[in-house]
Amino acid sequence: MKVLLISLLSFFTFADNYSERGKEALLPLKKSLMKELKAGLKSHGAMGALKVCNIKAMDITDSKSTKKYKVGRSSLKNRNPKNAPSPWMSKALIDYEKTKSKKPRVIRIDSDKTAYVEPIYLKGLCLTCHGSQISSSLKKEINSLYPLDKATGYKAGDFRGIFWVEFN
Ligand code: HEC
Repeated sequence: MKVLLISLLSFFTFADNYSERGKEALLPLKKSLMKELKAGLKSHGAMGALKVCNIKAMDITDSKSTKKYKVGRSSLKNRNPKNAPSPWMSKALIDYEKTKSKKPRVIRIDSDKTAYVEPIYLKGLCLTCHGSQISSSLKKEINSLYPLDKATGYKAGDFRGIFWVEFN
């Protein structure tokens, strides 16, 4: 009994610890992406913001990884092929899609790798470039920048994907 309690306790402390670290690791990425998106929309409109995202999103994402962890975004319907899910991400994405949970999660990838994920749900603002009524000129530009784009046809509130952290 005592052993069980101790191992349960240490598991929760372990999850808590990764949860805190994961949240902290994602904050700069979330802030920078949102800042660029809003600045882009404000000064160049949707078309300009699309180009800003195209040029900067991946560099911003890569710049927020450190020696201790890697961060990124993924989706079952990804726009950028570089955001395609790895096997453990696919599992998490399918689960969120099914449960519509808003809760972050700590995931044990294998005996020495742990991850943290936060689900992403779409707001009205996002539909300009991910919705079902995208202007034809914008749609054309999306298709030329991302010929394999799967990230349209969404409604507000839809599950879009995850922010993830993989601890080294
Ligand atoms: C101005 C157009 C535009 C708007 C508005 C926009 N996005 Fe995107 N989104 C993009 C582009 C372009 C990419 C691909 C970025 C890249 O090349 O890495 C992308 C990629 C993503 C990804 C990464 C997975 C993938 O499909 O590659 C997620 C998640 C995402 N967007 C969520 C959102 C959310 C949530 C909002 C609203 C807060 C939003 N987007 C608003 C253009 C937009």
